[in-house]
Amino acid sequence: MSVTILGIESSCDDTSAAVIRDGVVLSNIIAAQAVHEAYGGVVPELASRAHQQHIIPVVDRALKQAGIDKAALDAIAFTRGPGLMGSLLVGTSFAKGLSASLEIPMIDVNHLQAHVLAHFIKQTPDDTQQPSFPFLCLLVSGGNSQIIRVDGYHDMQVIGQTIDDAAGEAFDKCAKVMGLGYPGGPIVNRLANEGNPEAFTFSKPHIPDYNYSFSGLKTSFLYTLRDRLKEDPGFIEKNKADLCASLQATVIHILMDKLRKAAMDLNIKEVAVAGGVSANTGLRDAFRDHAGRYGWTIHIPPFAFTTDNAAMVAICGYYTYLNKEFCPMDAVPFSRVVI
Ligand code: KG4
Repeated sequence: MSVTILGIESSCDDTSAAVIRDGVVLSNIIAAQAVHEAYGGVVPELASRAHQQHIIPVVDRALKQAGIDKAALDAIAFTRGPGLMGSLLVGTSFAKGLSASLEIPMIDVNHLQAHVLAHFIKQTPDDTQQPSFPFLCLLVSGGNSQIIRVDGYHDMQVIGQTIDDAAGEAFDKCAKVMGLGYPGGPIVNRLANEGNPEAFTFSKPHIPDYNYSFSGLKTSFLYTLRDRLKEDPGFIEKNKADLCASLQATVIHILMDKLRKAAMDLNIKEVAVAGGVSANTGLRDAFRDHAGRYGWTIHIPPFAFTTDNAAMVAICGYYTYLNKEFCPMDAVPFSRVVI
């Protein structure tokens, strides 16, 4: 019997709805919120208001693009957390209302697990690109930088994580001090392609285990700008591409160093990357390079499944549905949690 899941994602500033049937994506609609650009970061109150405006049209489009009526849905999967409380409440409340009216079950999804399970979204029924267990997943986004050991669809263990800032945050904050706009990650990536990654040296952390730290890099980046701007007020403008290339190279070096150590220690050669920062072309190249040098089988998601999207929520919901684990109507969102 086929299983059709509607996924709803509203944890931060993207309103998204997707339909997945038997693991195959039929639609994945994302409405971004340009309103935050003027503020250089996500404004939580504005995000929840925008979710309220977007959610009905986005779900409507997802169903239409999938070519199904809502009566064909078997369950509704929604992001319960972590994320911004007001934003999560919009998706959660919508999921409750729709599931009650259609008399179908609801499935709560952990946003971080969803990023990892994005690797199991099939683009076509005969798509066989999915990772096999166990594998390591580097989850890098605006709020998280983690190395996760994945032993099953719902069997994940965080073996390393950032003790301060996330990798995406490092990109965004450094971009902000250069006056590059928000979100900074994609802009840094674009400029880095034209710059010299060895032009500047920024500090790298020395912390134990498989953990990350990006606050030292951020401070070292800031001090470099401060010192060089004293000598030349046009320093940033003249060196933008080299600054971005050097920043990106340092972030990638930090990320890959610990990931490689974890892969070697645990003797796991199946390695995936997930989360918004996995859109970074330099990081993707580093994965390909490691595949060649260390015999890794790598899994890099298509760009559409890197940043926040509902297809990853729906696939997570699909595997939970197969276990018949449903969520009660009195479920409330949670803003912070690890996997
Ligand atoms: O996963 P995501 O969409 O949202 C959450 O944080 O949950 O990730 C957003 C982060 C932002 O920090 C953004 O700057 C970063 O991903 N990002 C990138 C790139 N595209 C998005 N960072 C570096 N290079 C990119 N191409």
